[in-house]
Parts: sequence; structure tokens; C-alpha cells
Amino acid sequence: MSERRGPTIGVFDSGFGGLTVLRGLLPLIPGAHYIYLGDTARLPYGAKSRETVARYAVSSALYLQDRGADLLVIACNTATALALDDIRAACSVPVVGVVAPGAQAALAAVGKVPAEVLVLATAATVQSHAYHAACDALGLAAVEKACPLLVPLAEEGWVDHPVTRDVLRIYLTEALAEASPDAVLLGCTHYPLIADAITAMLRELGSDARVIDSAEATAQTVAQALSKAGLMVADSAGEATFECCATDSVEKFARLGSQFLGRPIPQVELLDLGG
Ligand code: DGL
Repeated sequence: MSERRGPTIGVFDSGFGGLTVLRGLLPLIPGAHYIYLGDTARLPYGAKSRETVARYAVSSALYLQDRGADLLVIACNTATALALDDIRAACSVPVVGVVAPGAQAALAAVGKVPAEVLVLATAATVQSHAYHAACDALGLAAVEKACPLLVPLAEEGWVDHPVTRDVLRIYLTEALAEASPDAVLLGCTHYPLIADAITAMLRELGSDARVIDSAEATAQTVAQALSKAGLMVADSAGEATFECCATDSVEKFARLGSQFLGRPIPQVELLDLGG
């Protein structure tokens, strides 16, 4: 058996939304091995306090580091917005979050400043105003809208469902009363699964704003961070590999997670990270 030459990358989310980021990473870094952790037992993070999110996120990050990750990707906007500094302080490996790449992706999509970006995110991410700060630093005005019902709908797999459309109609009508966005940024890694429904509802409500998912931009940031840390192995070859762990419902994770990842998830390991 040939020895692995590429880096081991830990990817973490509260559930399986971060698999949209893993999907962007898989083709980008040949020879890498990914360990994905979905903290499904403690989800949703988006309705919890900063202290609780930080405790859950740090314990998940340390688990991935202990399991051999050379770099960590916090593929959860809520954990990035509330706990990136805590995770960086607790871990000795490089840590990449999703908020800064998301703001960069919004700038690249609108291609001008000033511009207005509507950020859809969990209540905790909105309350942190992390996107407001990241967009402001790039000359973009962010209007942040909490959409707490979208995570359970995505986790339920209700991608093309009348209830999801009704919920989106309410959230987006409220948001568009306050903003005329040039772009709509999906500030939660669960939302790309319902991106088509979000675009369709924006059009129904008369907005031509482009919907942006930060997964691709995050993947590019990870590639840069690996190079900077000297972890990008020039002669690593072959397809990247991955393994998945979850803290609850491994069967559901494999079934619904494959929709987020865009390929089958043959096996999911059940973990107990405590409460
Ligand atoms: N996927 C997480 C995010 O990107 C949110 C899901 C949750 O509330 O746990 O914010």
C-alpha cells in the first residue's frame, strides 16, 4: 500500500451543511484526505449562545486535530462568526473559517463598490454582525437577515417543498423591505441545498440579485493556507479521499448528506463528544 503524501484536512460543521464546502474542496487538492465531522447531536448551533457554540466548536476542532488534521476548515458560519478566535487559541494547526471567504465571494460577484449585500444566516451569526464587519472591510454594505427555520428545513431534505417556499417568501419579503441587494450571500452552509428555491423566490419577489455560496471561495482560501503552511505536497497525486463522522443519526447523515456532497457517503462513524 502506498504511503499517503497529501495533507489531512479536518472539516467541521454543526451538521451536514459543511459538506457543501467539502464538495468544493475535493477536486481542488489532489492527494488530500478529509475527515469531516458533523456535530449533529448538538445542532442547531445557530440558536445557541456564544459560550455554548464556542465550547461545542472547540471540542469538535480539537477532536479533528487529535485525529491527525494538519489544517482545520470551520465549514460552519455560526462557529466561524462566534468562535473562530477561541478555536484558533485552542488548536495548534492552521484554522480557516467561512466568513471572510464569503465576503470576498460577494465582492467578486458584484464586481463593484459600493454595493449592497443581503446576508441570510442563523440568528447567532446575524447577532454577531461578523458579516457586517467582513463586508464593511471590503466596502460592501451588508444587510443581515436571520432565517432560523431554514436549517431544519434543509436538514429535513425539504429542498423543493411548499413549506420551504412559504418560509422563504416570508423571510425574503421582510428582507427586501429593508434592502435592494446586488447580491444575496448564503451565510450558512446549510443554505446552498435550497439555493435554487432562494433564487426562484427572489425572482418572484422582483429581485434580480445573484445568490452566492461561499463554498468555492472557502476552498480557494484553504488551498492558499495549505501552501502558506508548506502542506501542499507538489508530488501528491490521485483523487482526494474522505471519511465522515457524526455525533448522531449516522443513517440520516449518510442519506441526506449525500445530497449536500453530491456523491454517496458509504459510511459514517458515530462519535460521542459529550454535551
Ligand atoms: N451550518 C451552520 C452555519 O453555517 C448552521 C447550522 C446550525 O444552526 O447549527 O451557520
